[in-house]
Amino acid sequence: MVRVIVGTQWGDEGKGRVIELFAKDADVVARYNGGANAGHTIYVGGDRLVFHIIPSGIIYPHTICIIGNGVVIDPEVLIKEIKTAKSKGINIEHRLFISDKAHLVMPYHKLRDDKDGLLGTTRMGIGPCYEDKYARRGIRVADLLYPEVFKEKLKNNLKEYPSLKLDKIYVQYKSFSDFIIPFITDTSTLLNQWIDKGKEVILEGAQGLLLDVDHGTYPFVTSSNPQAGAACCGLGIGPTKIDEVIGVTKAYTSRVGNGPLPTRMTKEFENIVREMGQEYGATTGRPRRCGWLDAVLVGKALKVNDIKKIVITKLDVLDKLPKVKICKQYEYKEDKHRVATGLQTCRRQADFLSVAELSSNFAPVYEELDGWLSPTGSVRSYNKLPTAAKKYIDKITELIDAKITAICVGPTKENTIFL
Ligand code: GDP
Ligand code: IMO
Ligand code: MG
Repeated sequence: MVRVIVGTQWGDEGKGRVIELFAKDADVVARYNGGANAGHTIYVGGDRLVFHIIPSGIIYPHTICIIGNGVVIDPEVLIKEIKTAKSKGINIEHRLFISDKAHLVMPYHKLRDDKDGLLGTTRMGIGPCYEDKYARRGIRVADLLYPEVFKEKLKNNLKEYPSLKLDKIYVQYKSFSDFIIPFITDTSTLLNQWIDKGKEVILEGAQGLLLDVDHGTYPFVTSSNPQAGAACCGLGIGPTKIDEVIGVTKAYTSRVGNGPLPTRMTKEFENIVREMGQEYGATTGRPRRCGWLDAVLVGKALKVNDIKKIVITKLDVLDKLPKVKICKQYEYKEDKHRVATGLQTCRRQADFLSVAELSSNFAPVYEELDGWLSPTGSVRSYNKLPTAAKKYIDKITELIDAKITAICVGPTKENTIFL
């Protein structure tokens, strides 16, 4: 079985902890996009681990992990991550494989990243690294195996950056390469072999559909495709190999960085949710903006990814709210006849997500429900949820076209209600 696990919102939906649930029975976990802009959090034995580049499946000793060709690798971050994992007793040897075709994030990528702060990126050099990839001047992991080739490419690329010193960067990356070389291989070949042998495989997406460079709220997006289809390209497998796509959906919405968030809560509610949900970037520490669950935009994500099953995370974060809301449709302000309804909207209006429309012309229309005002963290079955929480979950089911397979009510794997 090959499953893709993807975010259906603006990232940080809790993909790491959902992958923890599924990777328990997996042989292989493979990351296919993004880089150190991602931060996937998992609690292991009381320790909080945040993975940026290494697939979250690394926490299980039986799981093999792949960093695919679609990932952009900052070797400094990767090495730090490997060392941290080792210090927590996670053995990486013979379990981590890095694609020879993945691109390397270089110091000049970070210099160039969102210089004017207009996009609010993570400034990890992700966008500029993908720019160089497509401009065909990128430096790839395989280049670490050939120091002369690496140096020549670096020399050419540095012509635009007189302040950066070739020898210094060369020596730095040489030391990185000594560490990384044992992990480098043709991961596409390996992965295809494992899939053909019938192994249980999880393909781990970073970010979420609304940050997708094609289908997200462009230009306030990342520079890769978090969508499930990109797993094929970012790992080198054929599309018919994928059996299932699982969406991860937070019980509300959060967004870090710039760009529209149409369902943003009032300050009063946002502060409660931010504190309850610890909505601070796992990579940058920036406070995340918080909003109500947007069933219309999640519906779009389900469609683009062909998601049939979702996991709802962070239901417990809403425990202290007297009222909860879900955006069920958007009203088109300039033309009252063009009222868009839920999922049908997404099906009918392909251009619906354009950033200009989201911020100026579309107004969310909400379904308002009573809050449950009681703790759900220790609940382990749907029937034991407070009635108002069940109504909230039922409303989500009514508004989106997917089966809810689990509801998470806390950050550890024990805090899960399986349906
Ligand atoms: P990811 O990028 O999608 O993996 O998500 P992040 O790790 O960036 O952010 C999710 C945050 O929510 C992390 O701090 C998780 O520990 C936490 N979290 C995940 N699921 C739950 C949940 O069900 N309840 C609570 N309270 N926290 C959760
Ligand atoms: P995970 O995998 C949330 C956001 C940034 C910024 C935009 C572009 O943890 O869900 P970039 O550095 O990628 O060029 O920034 O994308 N962003 C994320 N937001 N979760 C992430 O990853 C993100 N990765 C990038 O905040 O708005
Ligand atoms: Mg995150």
